[in-house]
Amino acid sequence: MDPITLAKITPGISRLEIIEDDVYDAIAEVKIGPVKGSFKGKLSLIDKVKPEAFSLVVDQKSKIGNVDAKVDIRLDTVSAYESAISFDGKANMSGVLASKGARVMSGVASSLTKQFFTALRKEISETEFENTTSNLEIKNTINQSSNKSTMSHDIELLINGKKHNITVESRALLSNVLREQLRLTGTHIGCDTSSCGACTVLIDGKAIKSCTLLAVQADGLAVTTVEGLSENGTMHPIQEGFKEEHGLQCGFCTPGMMMTSIDLLNRNSNPTESEIREALEGNFCRCTGYHNIVRAVQHAAEKM
Ligand code: FES
Ligand code: FES
Repeated sequence: MDPITLAKITPGISRLEIIEDDVYDAIAEVKIGPVKGSFKGKLSLIDKVKPEAFSLVVDQKSKIGNVDAKVDIRLDTVSAYESAISFDGKANMSGVLASKGARVMSGVASSLTKQFFTALRKEISETEFENTTSNLEIKNTINQSSNKSTMSHDIELLINGKKHNITVESRALLSNVLREQLRLTGTHIGCDTSSCGACTVLIDGKAIKSCTLLAVQADGLAVTTVEGLSENGTMHPIQEGFKEEHGLQCGFCTPGMMMTSIDLLNRNSNPTESEIREALEGNFCRCTGYHNIVRAVQHAAEKM
């Protein structure tokens, strides 16, 4: 593939400069959620069986994380008028990019892949297959979490002391399974990108943001949600604390705040104000402010 075509079909490319045979320095702008990032890296093309098969290798480093990706692409002749593009790819991410959560990154990867192959298909149909019936079929066999979306698994979760044997998709996040499959809607989803803490639950006693975990990863583990805090109609001390100290307004952040606080109080029965604030730094409250939330945790500490 020539560099002009490669630059044309690679999403967001603003610079492509050849540095050696089939190896390019590239700058691309990519949107991850609401954030636009500029990525600088190396693109290499390896022709395997010219012109039917090649690999596209991406090696990029940026302030927000690194990506190593390899996509093997094949162009097979199906009939005189029909060809099929298939591809199989794998990407490793690190740094802040990795912490954006599998779902977000998988969405970005799927969208970039789609753009790339749509452009490649257009390019092929405009050049090699000009004046023929262009009926290219894109088969997505990319080996990333999104292609396993159709696979399902039987798992067992011990939720609030009760066993649940359920079938979940490979890609299903624990937060979604709790809310949509088990109707435990006390676990809230505020961002889906592991920032807000509204989805925090206890897993084997530790506070975990359930949007950062695939449900299959929780197989066999004990999960406590906010629904499991009160006992026989008696509020848990942390619930009492939020009520007595006016630690909530809309209540959206409250379940996550309470689960994180319980984890803290299990480790430290008498935390200082700064220890409470530090423990809650991954939980955002958009309306109350944090003073009363801290008082609610102090109230619970006295009662526990
Ligand atoms: S929804 Fe999980 S951290 Fe915001
Ligand atoms: S009480 Fe509304 S977000 Fe915290």
